[in-house]
Amino acid sequence: MRMASTVSSASVNYNDRSAGWRRWSAGCTKRRVETAVASIVAGTLGWEIADTDDMVQRAAGKSILEIFRDGGEQLFRDLEAEAIHTACSGEHVVVSTGGGAGLRAENRRAMADGDFVVCLEARPETILRRLSSGGRALDRPLLASGDPLSRIRILKEARQHLYALCDWTVHTDALTPKQVAAEVARAYEEVAASISMDPDRLGALTDSDAETPPGTLHVIPKEAASIVRTAGGEYPVLAGWGLLGALGERLRDTGIARQVHIVSDEAVFHHYGDEVEGALRGAEVPFDAYTVPPGEASKSLGTASEIYDWLVERKAEFARGVPLVHVPTSLLGMVDAAIGGKVGVNHPRAKNMIGAFYQPRLVVADVATLWTLPPREYFSGWAEVIKHAMIADGDLLPFLEEHRKPILKLEREPTTEAIRKSIAIKARVVSADEREETGERTTLNYGHTLAHAIESATGYSRFLHGEAVAIGIMAAGRISERLGLLSPDAVERQQRLLEAYRLPVRAEGIDRSRVEAAMALDKKVSGKSIRWVLLEGIGRPVLRDDVPKEVVEEAIGKVLR
Ligand SMILES: NC(=O)c1ccc[n+]([C@@H]2O[C@H](COP(=O)([O-])OP(=O)(O)OC[C@H]3O[C@@H](n4cnc5c(N)ncnc54)[C@H](O)[C@@H]3O)[C@@H](O)[C@H]2O)c1
Repeated sequence: MRMASTVSSASVNYNDRSAGWRRWSAGCTKRRVETAVASIVAGTLGWEIADTDDMVQRAAGKSILEIFRDGGEQLFRDLEAEAIHTACSGEHVVVSTGGGAGLRAENRRAMADGDFVVCLEARPETILRRLSSGGRALDRPLLASGDPLSRIRILKEARQHLYALCDWTVHTDALTPKQVAAEVARAYEEVAASISMDPDRLGALTDSDAETPPGTLHVIPKEAASIVRTAGGEYPVLAGWGLLGALGERLRDTGIARQVHIVSDEAVFHHYGDEVEGALRGAEVPFDAYTVPPGEASKSLGTASEIYDWLVERKAEFARGVPLVHVPTSLLGMVDAAIGGKVGVNHPRAKNMIGAFYQPRLVVADVATLWTLPPREYFSGWAEVIKHAMIADGDLLPFLEEHRKPILKLEREPTTEAIRKSIAIKARVVSADEREETGERTTLNYGHTLAHAIESATGYSRFLHGEAVAIGIMAAGRISERLGLLSPDAVERQQRLLEAYRLPVRAEGIDRSRVEAAMALDKKVSGKSIRWVLLEGIGRPVLRDDVPKEVVEEAIGKVLR
């Protein structure tokens, strides 16, 4: 038996890029605290110390931030793997590694073979505090923006199965570096020898099943407007201006670098096919592409079957599903359809009849693509954003009011900001109730009871979905007002906002009996009474299935004349 000659001090992944075996940071401003721990341990044992981050920076001749900027996480991980290999091949070395070092099985093998691997654990709040007090949050490429605490939490959760493989764990929250070092040295002296004799240890550490399971995030790009976290997987929703150009890198970050199959509508592909193909080529991601005619008619079993035929011809493997990436180019797609995992096709008898839940791995919304979206589609999409603003307690509503003019002109900053805020609301709701089981996700149906009936009664030809939703939320607002839940001022405010975004708040010439029949049919199909999403105030949705018929008729009478 070879005695352990290296201590890899593993820590929770406070760093944004990835996690794994490595470091611990505390209120140490001049040098990393995990390095401080490693150097105290090295002093105690009379060993050398190697810091793999330092080795990476020396080898590249630039900072970690610059390495990420120039070559992405991939480059950093490659350099890190070399550094780990070199550091762990020495004798009597305490190796301080990075948080994501354990993501690669080859690194785990190098660290574990003949070594004693220690995880320096801390709560997310502690990690953030230590980073902030060292001013180091800004050094971490993927913590530099957004919400660092939730990023730390997500990374930690995603990598916990790897930390669990370490030989020893020290909970560092309440300890000084000196105390941690004493604990590491004690564990090394008392238990390392017996642990290293465990015949299953090395196999477990290097088992490929221990790789990060699909659907867990280890990279959170800075353009993430939000993270969706569901049982079906967790994924970032990126929203920004000009993101298509970096699509290849974002796919690579997500671990998608093998054959990519692009499915697009012809009109969208005409505008953006070249750019997307260029981006994938640039990142050396192989791809092919299939286009379908634009519009709802393609959302059919027939088209799905044609796509499967094409995938089979391309020898695509999809027997157990494929990693799915949504790249929405309509406003409705960005703020609504691409988020939340509801997928489906239409049946001749009803829309979205054949459906499932299937969460994507990544959503990339390039707001600049809205330039070519037909204006009516653009305005229509704002109805869902306004709906989000009405059901969520936050600053989206005043933001939409204040910035309506530049947003209508698609000015970059306010439009992107409004879309990011709207995405965050949808992401939060679907994360709380992925399968529409607790009622929370149902609140997204504010305005939709009547909207669906209007669309159905007019043969899905007169109104775009958002336009019907605008009329629908006016009716739901009126019902809320009539039941004494919502103030007339709030209803007026909603109406002014819808009108400002050039959305209809009422419609003429619609056969009301057909609308009511469509609502009744809905009720019959679901076997339940009509469940209205109403507001008890802005940002306070409530579900009601006891709304008197005459109240509904009165509200419908106000919006359909
Ligand atoms: N899964 C969900 O949770 C969910 C939620 C809401 C809506 N939906 C579904 O989404 C669909 C509607 O989505 P949609 O509004 O994106 O429809 P769509 O994909 O049909 O796009 C609308 C039109 O705009 C064009 N277009 C889109 N982006 C463009 C761009 N950037 N430049 C030029 N033209 C562009 C398309 O070619 C099409 O003609 C419906 O089938 C609806 O049922 C799903």
